[in-house]
Amino acid sequence: MAEQDSDKGTFVTLAEGRPVRDPAESTVLRSKTGYQRGGGLALLEDTQLIETLAHFPRERIPERVVHAKAAGAWGEFEVTHDVTEITSAKFLSEVGKKTKVLMRLSTVGGEKGSADTLRDIRGFAVKFFTEEGNYDIVGNDLPVFFIRDPIKFPSLNRSHKKHPQTAVPDSTMFWDFHNHNEEGVHCLMHLFGDRGVPKSLRNINGYGVHTFKYGRAGEDTFKYVKIHLKPDAGVETLSEEDAVRMAGEDPDHHVRDLYNSIEKGDFPSWTMNLQVMDPKEAENYRWNIFDPTKIWSHKDYPLIPVGRITLNRNPENYFAEVEQAAFSPSNLVPGIGPSADVMLQARMFSYPDAARYRVGPNYQQLPCNKALHVYAPFQRDGPMRVDGNYGGDPNYIRSRFTKVELGPLDVKHDEWVNSKVEAYTMPVTDDDYQQAKDLWELYKEQEVEQVFINNICGQMKTALPEVQAETIKMFGKVDKDIAERMQKKLKELDCKEPQHVKAPDGPGRMGSHGHKYDIA
Ligand code: HEM
Repeated sequence: MAEQDSDKGTFVTLAEGRPVRDPAESTVLRSKTGYQRGGGLALLEDTQLIETLAHFPRERIPERVVHAKAAGAWGEFEVTHDVTEITSAKFLSEVGKKTKVLMRLSTVGGEKGSADTLRDIRGFAVKFFTEEGNYDIVGNDLPVFFIRDPIKFPSLNRSHKKHPQTAVPDSTMFWDFHNHNEEGVHCLMHLFGDRGVPKSLRNINGYGVHTFKYGRAGEDTFKYVKIHLKPDAGVETLSEEDAVRMAGEDPDHHVRDLYNSIEKGDFPSWTMNLQVMDPKEAENYRWNIFDPTKIWSHKDYPLIPVGRITLNRNPENYFAEVEQAAFSPSNLVPGIGPSADVMLQARMFSYPDAARYRVGPNYQQLPCNKALHVYAPFQRDGPMRVDGNYGGDPNYIRSRFTKVELGPLDVKHDEWVNSKVEAYTMPVTDDDYQQAKDLWELYKEQEVEQVFINNICGQMKTALPEVQAETIKMFGKVDKDIAERMQKKLKELDCKEPQHVKAPDGPGRMGSHGHKYDIA
């Protein structure tokens, strides 16, 4: 905040506090003639000008490599149902208990300046500032994900972003990735279904996607849990036509909508629910519960309500409170633990790693990330340390000068006896098509199956013909009818030439031989 002088109003200072005469004026050296002609020489002694110009190009920090565009707001979580049998997490210990939250809702593939209404997954990140540390749910608005081996994550995202040569999104590259990684077919069915573009961020679901463990700290048992957040305003979506129109008319439509609705007191809220499974049942369940491309049927595991999140305060400053916010699936509290989902395990490394790069190694000290109570004296120094750095407290473990109390135990881990290190091979099988088939049946029941065909063909029409053919083949394994309808629709769309790329003669692109191709 600018400093106030009660009589004279606000005055501006240099970054080190010296009041400046006029923040809108540089200081120059000029001769009498120069003065008449309006010229002058800038001076190194003009600290105000130097500070002004030098800080400006340093205003940017790297945007998130995924989920760069987002809205964010503050709010609270209130426990509405007793779940103390399932978990000993203190923020869930009592009906009526409230916890401050920060939420960030994002698109995934687009850059910071991209349009809000693109067909894409929405990120759903919530930080609960609990008395036992920060608990983050870093989820999505779809219940499943495209891949189950974390090593594929960078490739997946590159294929959804801009082509390395043309610097524009490329349908060929998108489908080329998915045709060769068919475990994502279920997620694709969701993305191109009628729920692929939300009407507003107030109308999206939030899913933890992975399986987590909820338990009572120190006790020998736990439950497997999937997290579902349901918008109290209901799920509402945009048609492809409206989404495309909105992207042109108001690319920031969703961010603006969230801000305005909070500003006028129409607070968005979500009900948090859990699906809860006994570990014994997991052993024989129809689906591998550590595979994030699969859901658990609601018939088998109905939703159990836990509480409500309400967003009620906009940030005072977007950069300080939302851009610098750092969420991570590794931020768990006693009573909540990770499962043996390999993707989740890898994500637990990746997010703090990204934050150290994007914001800096002391990012947890910033107000938007700072836990209510922290005593971590074995993390010291580093760039931009802004707290007292634990003064003279020992910076080494096990000292007579630091009295350490033992903290709570984690949720128990599975037994891992006689394990071996091996490649995480999970080949695509017929099973990977089953939930996609079920979803297609649901689309037919809801009479939205043509919407799916139109959405997918609209996106695919610019892909190379051979990649289109492979994509049709993949969806033919879900249902022959899909393949036939896709073929028909593509014909109707009359896509003679792929828009961005054309297969080269000789050594091919995007394959094993080389990298040359022409821009059509
Ligand atoms: C953001 C990695 C899968 C949800 C990010 C970021 C990275 C990342 C590096 C940027 C973080 C930052 O700069 O602060 C990964 C990896 C994955 C993975 C390696 C798989 C192995 C997923 C899945 C979900 C998800 C399955 C949803 C269940 C999100 C969300 C954000 C994000 C919501 C934005 C967080 C925010 O608002 O700051 N991810 N991700 N990611 N990811 Fe993932």
